Amino acid sequence: MADVTFSPYDYYDIDSDPYPVYARLREEAPLYRNEELEFWALSRHADVMAALRDPMRFSSANGPLLESSVWGPAAQRALSFIAMDPPRHTRMRAIVSRVFTPRRVAELEPHIRAAAHHHIQNAFSNEQFDFIADVSAKVPTDVISELVGVPPSDRAEVRRLADVALHREVGGREVTQEGLDALLVLVGHFAELVAERRNRRRDDLVSALLDAQVDGDRLTDEEIVAFLHLLVGAGNETTTNLLGNAVYWAWRHPDQKAKALAGHVPEWVEETLRYDTAAPTVLRSLTCEVELHGVAVPQGSRVLLLPGAANRDPVVFADPDCYDLSRDTGSMISFGNGPHFCLGASLARLEARVTLEELSARIADFDLDLSQARRRQSPYIRGFAALPMTTVR
Ligand code: HEM
Repeated sequence: MADVTFSPYDYYDIDSDPYPVYARLREEAPLYRNEELEFWALSRHADVMAALRDPMRFSSANGPLLESSVWGPAAQRALSFIAMDPPRHTRMRAIVSRVFTPRRVAELEPHIRAAAHHHIQNAFSNEQFDFIADVSAKVPTDVISELVGVPPSDRAEVRRLADVALHREVGGREVTQEGLDALLVLVGHFAELVAERRNRRRDDLVSALLDAQVDGDRLTDEEIVAFLHLLVGAGNETTTNLLGNAVYWAWRHPDQKAKALAGHVPEWVEETLRYDTAAPTVLRSLTCEVELHGVAVPQGSRVLLLPGAANRDPVVFADPDCYDLSRDTGSMISFGNGPHFCLGASLARLEARVTLEELSARIADFDLDLSQARRRQSPYIRGFAALPMTTVR
């Protein structure tokens, strides 16, 4: 029996590195069991892909996070269709996809560019600034708020509540009462927004969601509110940390940084997604007994899928621990796969590309001060809470 141990709660230090453990899991314990935290884990690329494509046996009904499987019913409902299985998931995703179209995403590019430009210029007024607080956390909040139709005066409060609801700095295993309270206040804000738009439509996502239908079927107000909450939760943190990870890994690899700043921004984004994904774990629960690597894993078991480990599987990626902007990243699983494939993948890519283009157009080089940096304290988000930066312009 392999003696490797893995807990997603172990990687909070600035230099913490789960990848050697992921490698041992793939090699020595492709089906891993954590008795204390009561989960199984799959780390090989083929196993993670197969599970993501098998929603009938690998259910999403308990939500995608270890914690969400113990949330109460009200909080569970706020997870929207990320915590549903077919056919409920299929129905809601079809209606939402009518509205969350590539055209609507593409139309956001000028807003994204303006937001990135504005926050980068503001950050440049100080010799040293925090790339996370001043740039990478601000752009996605502006963009989601613009998309959803949150009035500018409410945006800072919505972001604060979303941060508390996702217990940004707490990082513990317990669901905090403060986090649950914030979640319910946030949901209340969205409910007001939906009620307002029901009376008076505008040219925004909420208005479009109220009118969207597939075969005569529409979303209820409660379903729209839950979806808005999902968007704010899934669309802020992940993109913030993709951006932070991009500057961090480029900084750690000066030859790749030179390439990135010289205009290879799309490759910079893609290789960062593969090399150190912001969303390294996704949870499923078994609807029946499933045999995995010769073990009969019981019905009801929680199975943690590890896209972070799969993205470094040498069976799929040559020299996987090398950060290399010229590699083919086509098989990475950072946005999931199957029916729950990330709805915001194209938006995340657009936000990251535009923000890094705006940054690299204004600087010749940048440096990071790791003595002041902090990692994000979360088992399911990998990235930085603070990343002080200086630039050469
Ligand atoms: C689902 C990752 C950005 C909205 C997912 C899933 C992953 C993921 C792995 C699948 C979860 C599962 O299978 O249970 C990421 C990463 C991002 C990102 C790494 C950025 C780097 C965004 C953005 C939005 C978004 C910007 C929206 C504006 C969603 C939604 C789902 C989802 C709504 C649920 C889809 C479904 O259940 O059908 N994301 N995401 N994500 N993501 Fe993203």
